[in-house]
Amino acid sequence: MNTCDNQTPLAGKRILLGVTGGIAAYKSAELCRLLIQAGAELRVAMTDAALEFIRPLTFQALTGQPVASSLFQGEAGNAMEHIELARWAELILVAPATADFIARLVEGQGDNLLLATILASKAPLALAPAMNQQMWAAASTRDNLQRLRHRDVLIWGPEAGEQACGDQGLGRLREPSDLLEDVIDFFAPGPLEGRRVLITAGPTREAIDPVRFLSNRSSGKMGYALAQAAWRAGAEVLLVSGPTCLERPDGVERIDVISAEEMRRAVLEQLPGQDIFIACAAVADYRPRQPARDKIKKQSERLTLELERTPDILAEVAARPNRPFCVGFAAETQELEHYARDKLAGKKLDMIAANRVDGDDGAFEGDDNELAVFWDDGAIELPRQPKTRIARELIAIIADQFSRRRP
Ligand code: CTP
Repeated sequence: MNTCDNQTPLAGKRILLGVTGGIAAYKSAELCRLLIQAGAELRVAMTDAALEFIRPLTFQALTGQPVASSLFQGEAGNAMEHIELARWAELILVAPATADFIARLVEGQGDNLLLATILASKAPLALAPAMNQQMWAAASTRDNLQRLRHRDVLIWGPEAGEQACGDQGLGRLREPSDLLEDVIDFFAPGPLEGRRVLITAGPTREAIDPVRFLSNRSSGKMGYALAQAAWRAGAEVLLVSGPTCLERPDGVERIDVISAEEMRRAVLEQLPGQDIFIACAAVADYRPRQPARDKIKKQSERLTLELERTPDILAEVAARPNRPFCVGFAAETQELEHYARDKLAGKKLDMIAANRVDGDDGAFEGDDNELAVFWDDGAIELPRQPKTRIARELIAIIADQFSRRRP
């Protein structure tokens, strides 16, 4: 639990509380009261099924705000209520979340106001499931929860105990006071609060002639996920990105570059004041020594390109006086630890994250990754999981090691 002396730890936080149709809906009123007491600005959205269990007047009285429940009959003339709520919320918490609601969410349905709001929102989403223990144990519910976790949805609860239907088991709504603590923890300052983090991501392109280039299969997904995770951990994040198809992560500033030399220049220019440098880009190791000024014509059967080494951006940053905490990446097909530790020492890094690559592996283009992380006197394995989750774990490890070395 986050310890906070402040009586209103959620002061000014804009939270949308979604209430769906389960017997535990009556507990949402208590949760609503606790969140408001903690300082949150609260709006409530209810599904039709929730209206069968608890009246909107209860929430309206507690929040002093109209309750949103219909896509078509919002506040006078406001047919876009779900879009406004979607933009307004800093966190959407659905408590209770029924099995049916969870299934609809997984499918991406938007046929009620709460689902449509969630679809239209960039705000993080937390669910507090509540249902009969057998429904919770059902294979479909397990699968649905797994899919939501992969989408970074936070799942708070359920708890074990006696259920409204008389059953015993897992499925009770987490107690409102515990859900309040979850929300406070969610908004607590991250481990990188006040820190500046510079990240390189994606491939680079090295020109052969005006229309051709040398590059690699890096998608940039890992670097972008790290940028997002570092921002969520409270850091000010600058992403220097090679060409990718990815959208700029929320809250992150991005500088677009093409070649290794451009990436180097951008990094060195932005380096002063950075606390942490994460070199996640798959920088081309070689580039054509003399790119042709005009398009090369196919005049001969063979064409030889002369290549030269590109500058090693990470090694250059790590060699600077007053350098930031430096994290490198290594892609290896064999002897992972041996080569990774060689690079850690050779480039004088603080940490290195290594992944195993083999021909058809998804490490470059896929959505999942696994990493082995090494530093001077430690190592940790992060098993295969979505890049967004592995990024969060890696950022937590970086934040921890950084705080030990630069308290
Ligand atoms: N890197 C860099 N600038 C380069 C090359 C690499 O900043 N010109 C960084 C990458 O972002 C990554 C790490 O260095 O963090 C990778 O090191 P490198 O020695 O290039 O590893 P590999 O690409 O795996 O190379 P090798 O073929 O030597 O194994």
